[in-house]
Amino acid sequence: MAKKRLGVGFVGGGFITQFHIRSWESVRDADILGIVDPNEKTANSAAALARTLHVGDAKVYHSITDMVADQNIDAIWICSPNFTRIEVMEEIVHAIESGKGELIGVACEKPLGRNVAEAKRMLELVQKAGLWDGYLEDQLFSPSLTRGREIVWARGAAVSGRPYLARAAEEHSGPHMPWFWEGSLQGGGVLNDMMCHSVEVARFMLTPPGEDRSFLTPVKVTAHTTCLKWQNPHYAKILSENSGGKIDYINRPAEDFARSLIEYRDKNGERLIVETTTSWCYVGAGLRLSMELLGPEYSLQVNSLDTDLKLFFSRNVRGEAGEDLVEKQNAEVGLMPVVGDEAGEYGYVGENRHMVQSFLSGKRPTENFSDGLNVTELLMTAYMSAEQEKTIVFPSPELARFIPAVARGVWNPGK
Ligand SMILES: NC(=O)c1ccc[n+]([C@@H]2O[C@H](COP(=O)([O-])OP(=O)(O)OC[C@H]3O[C@@H](n4cnc5c(N)ncnc54)[C@H](O)[C@@H]3O)[C@@H](O)[C@H]2O)c1
Repeated sequence: MAKKRLGVGFVGGGFITQFHIRSWESVRDADILGIVDPNEKTANSAAALARTLHVGDAKVYHSITDMVADQNIDAIWICSPNFTRIEVMEEIVHAIESGKGELIGVACEKPLGRNVAEAKRMLELVQKAGLWDGYLEDQLFSPSLTRGREIVWARGAAVSGRPYLARAAEEHSGPHMPWFWEGSLQGGGVLNDMMCHSVEVARFMLTPPGEDRSFLTPVKVTAHTTCLKWQNPHYAKILSENSGGKIDYINRPAEDFARSLIEYRDKNGERLIVETTTSWCYVGAGLRLSMELLGPEYSLQVNSLDTDLKLFFSRNVRGEAGEDLVEKQNAEVGLMPVVGDEAGEYGYVGENRHMVQSFLSGKRPTENFSDGLNVTELLMTAYMSAEQEKTIVFPSPELARFIPAVARGVWNPGK
Protein backbone atom coordinates (compact mmCIF):
# COMPACT_ATOMS: atom_id res chain seq x y z
CA MET A 1 0.00 0.00 0.00
CA ALA A 2 1.28 3.49 -0.86
CA LYS A 3 2.66 5.46 2.06
CA LYS A 4 0.80 8.57 3.21
CA ARG A 5 3.66 10.05 5.27
CA LEU A 6 7.36 10.04 4.63
CA GLY A 7 9.94 9.55 7.41
CA VAL A 8 13.11 11.42 6.43
CA GLY A 9 16.67 10.97 7.74
CA PHE A 10 19.48 13.46 7.16
CA VAL A 11 23.12 12.54 6.57
CA GLY A 12 25.01 15.58 7.88
CA GLY A 13 23.51 17.97 10.39
CA GLY A 14 25.43 21.18 9.53
CA PHE A 15 24.56 24.49 7.92
CA ILE A 16 22.37 23.29 5.05
CA THR A 17 20.53 20.66 7.08
CA GLN A 18 19.48 23.34 9.55
CA PHE A 19 18.10 25.34 6.57
CA HIS A 20 16.14 22.28 5.40
CA ILE A 21 14.80 21.69 8.92
CA ARG A 22 13.51 25.28 9.11
CA SER A 23 11.88 24.88 5.68
CA TRP A 24 10.04 21.79 6.94
CA GLU A 25 7.57 23.96 8.89
CA SER A 26 5.93 24.53 5.48
CA VAL A 27 6.26 20.97 4.15
CA ARG A 28 3.33 18.54 4.58
CA ASP A 29 3.14 14.77 4.81
CA ALA A 30 6.70 14.19 6.02
CA ASP A 31 8.60 14.17 9.31
CA ILE A 32 12.29 14.56 10.04
CA LEU A 33 13.02 11.47 12.10
CA GLY A 34 16.79 10.98 11.95
CA ILE A 35 20.21 12.63 11.81
CA VAL A 36 23.63 11.04 11.28
CA ASP A 37 26.70 13.23 11.80
CA PRO A 38 30.12 12.22 13.15
CA ASN A 39 30.11 15.46 15.11
CA GLU A 40 27.86 14.57 18.04
CA LYS A 41 27.20 18.18 19.00
CA THR A 42 26.04 19.03 15.47
CA ALA A 43 23.89 15.89 15.28
CA ASN A 44 22.22 16.69 18.60
CA SER A 45 21.63 20.32 17.72
CA ALA A 46 20.02 19.42 14.35
CA ALA A 47 17.77 16.81 16.00
CA ALA A 48 16.85 19.28 18.75
CA LEU A 49 15.96 21.94 16.15
CA ALA A 50 13.62 19.50 14.37
CA ARG A 51 11.92 18.62 17.64
CA THR A 52 11.65 22.27 18.76
CA LEU A 53 10.04 23.26 15.47
CA HIS A 54 7.69 20.22 15.67
CA VAL A 55 8.78 18.99 12.26
CA GLY A 56 9.61 15.50 13.48
CA ASP A 57 10.71 13.54 16.51
CA ALA A 58 14.28 13.34 15.22
CA LYS A 59 16.67 10.78 16.71
CA VAL A 60 20.44 10.71 16.36
CA TYR A 61 21.76 7.51 14.74
CA HIS A 62 25.36 6.37 15.01
CA SER A 63 25.58 5.12 11.44
CA ILE A 64 23.85 5.49 8.10
CA THR A 65 23.18 1.73 8.16
CA ASP A 66 21.35 2.04 11.52
CA MET A 67 19.25 4.90 10.16
CA VAL A 68 18.34 2.99 6.96
CA ALA A 69 17.50 -0.07 9.06
CA ASP A 70 14.86 1.82 11.06
CA GLN A 71 11.55 1.10 9.36
CA ASN A 72 10.29 4.60 10.18
CA ILE A 73 12.89 6.04 7.79
CA ASP A 74 11.67 6.03 4.16
CA ALA A 75 14.05 8.49 2.52
CA ILE A 76 17.48 10.00 3.03
CA TRP A 77 18.61 13.57 2.35
CA ILE A 78 22.42 13.62 1.74
CA CYS A 79 23.76 16.88 3.21
CA SER A 80 27.30 15.96 4.22
CA PRO A 81 30.39 17.55 2.58
CA ASN A 82 31.14 16.98 -1.12
CA PHE A 83 34.09 14.64 -0.42
CA THR A 84 31.78 12.13 1.34
CA ARG A 85 29.26 11.63 -1.52
CA ILE A 86 30.40 8.21 -2.74
CA GLU A 87 31.05 6.62 0.68
CA VAL A 88 27.64 7.83 1.91
CA MET A 89 25.77 6.54 -1.16
CA GLU A 90 27.66 3.23 -1.06
CA GLU A 91 26.67 2.70 2.57
CA ILE A 92 23.00 3.44 1.81
CA VAL A 93 22.99 1.02 -1.11
CA HIS A 94 24.85 -1.65 0.84
CA ALA A 95 22.35 -1.41 3.73
CA ILE A 96 19.49 -1.95 1.25
CA GLU A 97 21.15 -4.71 -0.77
CA SER A 98 22.13 -6.62 2.35
CA GLY A 99 18.51 -6.57 3.49
CA LYS A 100 19.06 -4.34 6.54
CA GLY A 101 16.44 -1.81 5.50
CA GLU A 102 14.24 -0.39 2.75
CA LEU A 103 13.91 3.11 1.34
CA ILE A 104 11.79 4.88 -1.27
CA GLY A 105 14.25 7.55 -2.31
CA VAL A 106 17.39 9.59 -1.78
CA ALA A 107 17.78 13.33 -2.28
CA CYS A 108 21.28 14.78 -2.58
CA GLU A 109 22.55 18.32 -2.12
CA LYS A 110 24.53 20.04 -4.84
CA PRO A 111 26.98 19.17 -6.28
CA LEU A 112 26.11 15.55 -7.10
CA GLY A 113 29.85 14.78 -7.35
CA ARG A 114 33.19 16.57 -7.40
CA ASN A 115 33.66 15.53 -11.03
CA VAL A 116 31.83 13.64 -13.77
CA ALA A 117 33.09 10.19 -12.66
CA GLU A 118 31.68 10.74 -9.15
CA ALA A 119 28.37 12.16 -10.36
CA LYS A 120 27.96 9.17 -12.75
CA ARG A 121 28.71 6.77 -9.91
CA MET A 122 26.01 8.43 -7.75
CA LEU A 123 23.46 7.94 -10.54
CA GLU A 124 24.51 4.31 -11.10
CA LEU A 125 24.30 3.51 -7.38
CA VAL A 126 20.85 5.02 -6.88
CA GLN A 127 19.51 3.19 -9.93
CA LYS A 128 21.13 -0.10 -8.93
CA ALA A 129 19.31 0.08 -5.58
CA GLY A 130 16.00 0.84 -7.34
CA LEU A 131 15.48 4.14 -5.48
CA TRP A 132 13.91 7.41 -6.63
CA ASP A 133 16.45 10.20 -6.80
CA GLY A 134 16.16 13.94 -6.15
CA TYR A 135 18.88 16.50 -6.89
CA LEU A 136 18.59 19.33 -4.36
CA GLU A 137 18.90 22.53 -6.42
CA ASP A 138 16.82 24.90 -4.32
CA GLN A 139 16.86 27.87 -6.70
CA LEU A 140 14.66 26.05 -9.22
CA PHE A 141 11.91 26.19 -6.60
CA SER A 142 12.36 29.83 -5.57
CA PRO A 143 8.87 31.42 -5.82
CA SER A 144 10.14 34.52 -7.68
CA LEU A 145 11.74 32.34 -10.33
CA THR A 146 8.97 29.76 -10.72
CA ARG A 147 6.29 32.47 -10.87
CA GLY A 148 8.41 34.70 -13.11
CA ARG A 149 9.06 31.80 -15.47
CA GLU A 150 5.37 30.93 -15.70
CA ILE A 151 4.35 34.50 -16.50
CA VAL A 152 7.17 35.23 -18.94
CA TRP A 153 6.46 32.10 -20.96
CA ALA A 154 2.64 32.50 -20.83
CA ARG A 155 2.56 36.18 -21.77
CA GLY A 156 5.87 37.35 -23.31
CA ALA A 157 7.05 34.20 -25.07
CA ALA A 158 3.57 33.19 -26.30
CA VAL A 159 3.15 36.52 -28.11
CA SER A 160 6.63 37.66 -29.09
CA GLY A 161 8.89 34.60 -29.07
CA ARG A 162 10.98 32.55 -26.66
CA PRO A 163 13.58 34.03 -24.28
CA TYR A 164 17.09 33.79 -25.72
CA LEU A 165 19.43 35.02 -22.99
CA ALA A 166 19.62 34.08 -19.30
CA ARG A 167 22.11 35.69 -16.92
CA ALA A 168 22.61 34.28 -13.45
CA ALA A 169 24.99 35.26 -10.68
CA GLU A 170 25.62 34.10 -7.15
CA GLU A 171 28.06 35.93 -4.94
CA HIS A 172 29.08 36.22 -1.31
CA SER A 173 32.19 36.92 0.74
CA GLY A 174 33.34 33.30 1.11
CA PRO A 175 32.20 29.94 2.55
CA HIS A 176 31.62 29.31 6.26
CA MET A 177 33.64 26.08 6.71
CA PRO A 178 37.32 25.37 5.87
CA TRP A 179 36.63 22.29 3.69
CA PHE A 180 34.82 24.42 1.06
CA TRP A 181 38.09 26.33 0.41
CA GLU A 182 40.15 23.18 -0.30
CA GLY A 183 40.04 22.24 -4.00
CA SER A 184 40.64 18.55 -3.34
CA LEU A 185 37.87 18.23 -0.74
CA GLN A 186 35.26 20.44 -2.35
CA GLY A 187 36.05 19.55 -6.00
CA GLY A 188 37.11 23.06 -7.02
CA GLY A 189 36.60 26.64 -5.90
CA VAL A 190 33.67 28.97 -6.43
CA LEU A 191 32.98 27.56 -9.91
CA ASN A 192 32.09 24.15 -8.49
CA ASP A 193 30.52 25.52 -5.31
CA MET A 194 28.21 28.16 -6.73
CA MET A 195 28.12 28.10 -10.51
CA CYS A 196 26.20 24.83 -10.16
CA HIS A 197 23.21 26.97 -9.10
CA SER A 198 23.58 29.62 -11.80
CA VAL A 199 24.04 27.10 -14.64
CA GLU A 200 20.97 25.10 -13.66
CA VAL A 201 18.67 27.99 -12.91
CA ALA A 202 19.51 29.66 -16.23
CA ARG A 203 18.90 26.41 -18.13
CA PHE A 204 15.56 26.03 -16.30
CA MET A 205 14.39 29.55 -17.19
CA LEU A 206 15.21 29.00 -20.88
CA THR A 207 13.33 25.67 -21.04
CA PRO A 208 9.63 25.98 -21.97
CA PRO A 209 7.37 24.93 -19.08
CA GLY A 210 6.31 21.31 -19.54
CA GLU A 211 9.36 20.37 -21.62
CA ASP A 212 12.15 18.29 -20.15
CA ARG A 213 15.86 18.94 -20.04
CA SER A 214 16.51 17.42 -23.48
CA PHE A 215 14.71 20.41 -25.08
CA LEU A 216 18.01 22.31 -24.82
CA THR A 217 21.35 20.94 -26.01
CA PRO A 218 24.60 22.51 -24.80
CA VAL A 219 26.87 23.22 -27.77
CA LYS A 220 29.93 25.13 -26.50
CA VAL A 221 31.33 26.43 -23.20
CA THR A 222 33.75 29.34 -22.67
CA ALA A 223 34.90 30.15 -19.15
CA HIS A 224 37.41 32.08 -17.11
CA THR A 225 38.59 31.57 -13.52
CA THR A 226 41.05 33.41 -11.31
CA CYS A 227 41.82 34.22 -7.69
CA LEU A 228 41.18 37.92 -7.13
CA LYS A 229 41.09 38.38 -3.38
CA TRP A 230 41.99 35.36 -1.30
CA GLN A 231 45.52 34.84 -2.65
CA ASN A 232 46.49 38.30 -1.42
CA PRO A 233 48.89 37.61 1.52
CA HIS A 234 46.67 39.45 4.02
CA TYR A 235 43.61 37.32 3.14
CA ALA A 236 45.58 34.09 2.62
CA LYS A 237 46.82 34.53 6.22
CA ILE A 238 43.24 34.84 7.49
CA LEU A 239 42.29 31.58 5.72
CA SER A 240 45.34 29.84 7.14
CA GLU A 241 44.57 31.02 10.68
CA ASN A 242 40.91 30.01 10.43
CA SER A 243 41.85 26.47 9.39
CA GLY A 244 44.66 25.77 11.84
CA GLY A 245 47.21 26.19 9.04
CA LYS A 246 45.58 23.69 6.64
CA ILE A 247 44.49 26.14 3.93
CA ASP A 248 47.42 27.54 1.94
CA TYR A 249 46.14 29.98 -0.70
CA ILE A 250 49.64 31.21 -1.57
CA ASN A 251 50.60 27.75 -2.89
CA ARG A 252 47.26 25.92 -3.28
CA PRO A 253 44.52 28.44 -3.99
CA ALA A 254 41.12 27.72 -5.47
CA GLU A 255 39.39 30.16 -7.81
CA ASP A 256 37.36 32.82 -6.02
CA PHE A 257 35.99 34.23 -9.31
CA ALA A 258 34.51 32.33 -12.24
CA ARG A 259 32.40 33.17 -15.25
CA SER A 260 31.03 31.04 -18.06
CA LEU A 261 29.22 31.47 -21.31
CA ILE A 262 27.24 28.42 -22.41
CA GLU A 263 25.80 28.25 -25.92
CA TYR A 264 22.70 26.10 -26.35
CA ARG A 265 20.47 25.09 -29.23
CA ASP A 266 16.83 24.26 -28.56
CA LYS A 267 14.81 21.57 -30.36
CA ASN A 268 13.76 24.13 -32.96
CA GLY A 269 17.37 25.03 -33.72
CA GLU A 270 17.21 28.44 -31.96
CA ARG A 271 20.52 29.76 -30.56
CA LEU A 272 20.40 30.53 -26.81
CA ILE A 273 22.95 31.96 -24.41
CA VAL A 274 23.54 31.44 -20.69
CA GLU A 275 25.92 33.83 -18.96
CA THR A 276 26.96 33.11 -15.39
CA THR A 277 29.27 34.85 -12.97
CA THR A 278 30.11 33.78 -9.42
CA SER A 279 32.51 34.94 -6.74
CA TRP A 280 33.63 34.64 -3.14
CA CYS A 281 34.80 38.26 -3.33
CA TYR A 282 31.54 40.16 -2.97
CA VAL A 283 31.41 42.19 0.22
CA GLY A 284 27.89 43.57 0.33
CA ALA A 285 25.14 43.02 2.86
CA GLY A 286 25.29 39.24 2.34
CA LEU A 287 24.50 36.52 -0.21
CA ARG A 288 23.29 38.02 -3.50
CA LEU A 289 21.48 35.88 -6.07
CA SER A 290 20.59 37.55 -9.31
CA MET A 291 18.94 36.40 -12.48
CA GLU A 292 17.83 38.05 -15.71
CA LEU A 293 15.88 36.56 -18.58
CA LEU A 294 15.66 38.45 -21.86
CA GLY A 295 13.30 37.87 -24.78
CA PRO A 296 12.27 39.87 -27.88
CA GLU A 297 9.69 42.10 -26.13
CA TYR A 298 10.21 41.46 -22.41
CA SER A 299 12.68 40.93 -19.60
CA LEU A 300 12.66 39.56 -16.07
CA GLN A 301 14.98 40.40 -13.22
CA VAL A 302 15.46 39.12 -9.68
CA ASN A 303 17.95 40.32 -7.07
CA SER A 304 17.68 38.65 -3.67
CA LEU A 305 19.07 41.74 -1.88
CA ASP A 306 16.32 44.02 -3.25
CA THR A 307 14.19 43.12 -0.25
CA ASP A 308 10.98 44.86 0.80
CA LEU A 309 12.22 44.94 4.41
CA LYS A 310 15.19 47.22 5.15
CA LEU A 311 16.46 48.14 8.61
CA PHE A 312 18.70 50.98 9.65
CA PHE A 313 20.91 50.79 12.75
CA SER A 314 22.97 53.82 13.75
CA ARG A 315 26.63 53.54 14.73
CA ASN A 316 25.53 53.54 18.36
CA VAL A 317 23.91 50.13 17.97
CA ARG A 318 26.64 47.64 18.79
CA GLY A 319 25.81 43.96 18.75
CA GLU A 320 27.17 40.54 18.02
CA ALA A 321 28.06 39.55 14.44
CA GLY A 322 25.34 37.23 13.13
CA GLU A 323 23.41 35.89 10.15
CA ASP A 324 19.99 36.94 11.41
CA LEU A 325 19.26 39.45 8.61
CA VAL A 326 20.51 37.57 5.58
CA GLU A 327 22.67 34.51 4.76
CA LYS A 328 26.45 35.28 4.76
CA GLN A 329 25.74 38.64 6.39
CA ASN A 330 28.69 41.08 6.45
CA ALA A 331 27.48 43.92 8.69
CA GLU A 332 25.12 44.75 11.53
CA VAL A 333 24.86 48.54 11.18
CA GLY A 334 23.75 51.00 8.52
CA LEU A 335 20.97 50.32 6.04
CA MET A 336 20.57 46.55 5.82
CA PRO A 337 18.26 44.43 3.64
CA VAL A 338 16.47 41.58 5.40
CA VAL A 339 15.18 38.49 3.58
CA GLY A 340 11.97 37.83 5.53
CA ASP A 341 11.67 34.12 4.85
CA GLU A 342 14.98 32.77 3.57
CA ALA A 343 13.93 29.10 3.53
CA GLY A 344 10.92 30.03 1.37
CA GLU A 345 12.49 32.66 -0.87
CA TYR A 346 15.66 30.72 -1.75
CA GLY A 347 13.48 27.73 -2.70
CA TYR A 348 14.04 25.17 0.10
CA VAL A 349 10.33 24.95 0.95
CA GLY A 350 9.26 24.31 -2.64
CA GLU A 351 12.15 21.93 -3.21
CA ASN A 352 11.36 19.79 -0.16
CA ARG A 353 7.63 19.76 -0.92
CA HIS A 354 8.39 18.53 -4.42
CA MET A 355 10.78 15.79 -3.26
CA VAL A 356 8.37 14.56 -0.55
CA GLN A 357 5.34 14.48 -2.86
CA SER A 358 7.31 12.78 -5.66
CA PHE A 359 8.58 10.05 -3.33
CA LEU A 360 5.14 9.51 -1.77
CA SER A 361 3.43 9.25 -5.13
CA GLY A 362 6.10 6.96 -6.61
CA LYS A 363 7.32 9.43 -9.23
CA ARG A 364 10.85 10.46 -10.12
CA PRO A 365 11.38 14.11 -9.03
CA THR A 366 11.57 16.56 -11.93
CA GLU A 367 15.04 17.55 -10.67
CA ASN A 368 17.00 14.31 -10.23
CA PHE A 369 20.47 12.77 -10.33
CA SER A 370 20.51 12.87 -14.15
CA ASP A 371 20.20 16.65 -13.89
CA GLY A 372 22.92 16.72 -11.22
CA LEU A 373 25.17 14.79 -13.63
CA ASN A 374 24.39 17.20 -16.49
CA VAL A 375 25.28 20.17 -14.26
CA THR A 376 28.59 18.52 -13.33
CA GLU A 377 29.36 17.92 -17.02
CA LEU A 378 28.83 21.62 -17.76
CA LEU A 379 30.95 22.73 -14.79
CA MET A 380 33.81 20.40 -15.74
CA THR A 381 33.67 21.71 -19.31
CA ALA A 382 33.91 25.23 -17.87
CA TYR A 383 37.05 24.22 -15.93
CA MET A 384 38.52 22.73 -19.12
CA SER A 385 37.84 25.95 -20.99
CA ALA A 386 39.37 28.12 -18.25
CA GLU A 387 42.46 25.90 -18.03
CA GLN A 388 42.99 25.78 -21.81
CA GLU A 389 41.92 29.40 -22.34
CA LYS A 390 39.67 28.42 -25.24
CA THR A 391 36.09 27.56 -26.12
CA ILE A 392 35.28 23.86 -25.65
CA VAL A 393 32.81 22.04 -27.88
CA PHE A 394 30.34 20.06 -25.76
CA PRO A 395 30.61 17.19 -24.91
CA SER A 396 34.37 16.83 -24.78
CA PRO A 397 35.65 13.23 -25.10
CA GLU A 398 37.84 13.96 -22.03
CA LEU A 399 34.87 14.66 -19.73
CA ALA A 400 34.55 11.22 -18.12
CA ARG A 401 38.11 11.29 -16.75
CA PHE A 402 38.61 15.03 -16.25
CA ILE A 403 39.60 16.36 -12.79
CA PRO A 404 40.17 20.12 -12.58
CA ALA A 405 43.72 21.27 -11.82
CA VAL A 406 42.39 23.06 -8.74
CA ALA A 407 41.03 19.75 -7.37
CA ARG A 408 44.41 18.11 -8.06
CA GLY A 409 46.15 20.88 -6.09
CA VAL A 410 48.20 22.08 -9.08
CA TRP A 411 46.38 25.28 -10.05
CA ASN A 412 47.99 28.58 -9.16
CA PRO A 413 47.35 31.80 -11.12
CA GLY A 414 49.89 33.56 -8.86
CA LYS A 415 52.80 31.57 -10.32
N1 LIG B 1 21.77 24.47 -1.75
C1 LIG B 1 22.63 25.33 -1.25
O1 LIG B 1 22.56 26.52 -1.50
C2 LIG B 1 23.70 24.83 -0.33
C3 LIG B 1 24.21 25.70 0.62
C4 LIG B 1 25.20 25.22 1.49
C5 LIG B 1 25.67 23.91 1.34
N2 LIG B 1 25.16 23.11 0.37
C6 LIG B 1 25.69 21.74 0.19
O2 LIG B 1 25.35 20.96 1.33
C7 LIG B 1 26.41 20.10 1.69
C8 LIG B 1 26.78 20.36 3.15
O3 LIG B 1 27.18 21.71 3.30
P1 LIG B 1 27.09 22.47 4.71
O4 LIG B 1 27.19 23.93 4.38
O5 LIG B 1 25.95 21.99 5.48
O6 LIG B 1 28.46 21.98 5.36
P2 LIG B 1 28.82 21.92 6.91
O7 LIG B 1 30.29 21.70 6.96
O8 LIG B 1 28.21 23.09 7.62
O9 LIG B 1 28.05 20.61 7.43
C9 LIG B 1 28.38 19.32 6.99
C10 LIG B 1 28.14 18.35 8.14
O10 LIG B 1 28.35 17.03 7.66
C11 LIG B 1 29.02 16.29 8.67
N3 LIG B 1 29.71 15.14 8.08
C12 LIG B 1 31.00 15.03 7.66
N4 LIG B 1 31.24 13.80 7.17
C13 LIG B 1 30.07 13.11 7.29
C14 LIG B 1 29.69 11.78 6.97
N5 LIG B 1 30.54 10.93 6.40
N6 LIG B 1 28.42 11.41 7.25
C15 LIG B 1 27.55 12.27 7.82
N7 LIG B 1 27.87 13.54 8.14
C16 LIG B 1 29.11 13.96 7.87
C17 LIG B 1 29.94 17.31 9.33
O11 LIG B 1 30.31 16.90 10.64
C18 LIG B 1 29.10 18.56 9.31
O12 LIG B 1 28.35 18.72 10.50
C19 LIG B 1 27.54 20.38 0.71
O13 LIG B 1 27.55 19.39 -0.28
C20 LIG B 1 27.21 21.72 0.13
O14 LIG B 1 27.67 21.89 -1.20
C21 LIG B 1 24.18 23.54 -0.44
